[in-house]
Amino acid sequence: MDWGRRNRLAKIIKLETGRTVMLAVDHGYFLGPISKLENARKTIGPLLPFADALMLTRGILRSSVDPECSVPVVLRVSGGSSIIGKDLSMEGITTSMKEALRLNAAAVALSIFVGAEYEYQTLMNLANLVNEASEYGMPVLAVTAVGKELGKRDARFLSLSCRIAAELGASFVKTYYCDGFEKVVESCPIPLVVAGGPKLETELDAFKLAYDAVKKGAVGVDMGRNIWQSPHPIAMIKAVRAVVHKKASPEEALGVFNRSK
Ligand code: 5RP
Repeated sequence: MDWGRRNRLAKIIKLETGRTVMLAVDHGYFLGPISKLENARKTIGPLLPFADALMLTRGILRSSVDPECSVPVVLRVSGGSSIIGKDLSMEGITTSMKEALRLNAAAVALSIFVGAEYEYQTLMNLANLVNEASEYGMPVLAVTAVGKELGKRDARFLSLSCRIAAELGASFVKTYYCDGFEKVVESCPIPLVVAGGPKLETELDAFKLAYDAVKKGAVGVDMGRNIWQSPHPIAMIKAVRAVVHKKASPEEALGVFNRSK
């Protein structure tokens, strides 16, 4: 791997632990003003000191994050569909590599929709983005999107999606935790981070998800709703950090959460 790409990735996946707590706030690119992200600046600002990387679109980066911010940016560069539109998988590349460089991105991210109507288009988006990103030492994060079909979050489907992402040249992949997650990790030769998904019933459930994912080989989380839709987002991210970077158990993380809220 060339120096620039390794250097950018090392900003995201921390050398001290080999792990990362990415804060995902890109949801508006197809969900619009989702609950607790209506005012993105208000939500993101207090969480920045606790995030190893920030995943978002250029619009929210420019409008809602100060340029003095030292948190590495994983720039969402795919889009073009909406939650009320015909098909979420109908995505294109929305943001140029020149723009990603201008914004000092540490990586670019796009979704791939394996098994969906526009599978080919999104996989070619990934292949083309990797070709372009390679020219500039820019890592590519492939997000194994499931669209509205949350039931697709099983090991067979996610292994297929993650492996295809790796084969097409992604530097790292974001996927979902599932039963048999170790099989997804085993067959994926690039680092994996897990999404939190829709808000879980309890804080402990979110800590368990993060704990199980890193125990089974994920390098960390790229978590959104389970952090910032909590009434205590700072306590949540601190507790997730304890799991990911300090190997805290879910119960220990709950202690961190209760002491911080
Ligand atoms: C949307 C995304 C989100 O960043 C991802 O789902 C992570 O956020 P959450 O933990 O809320 O699921 O990629 O396509």
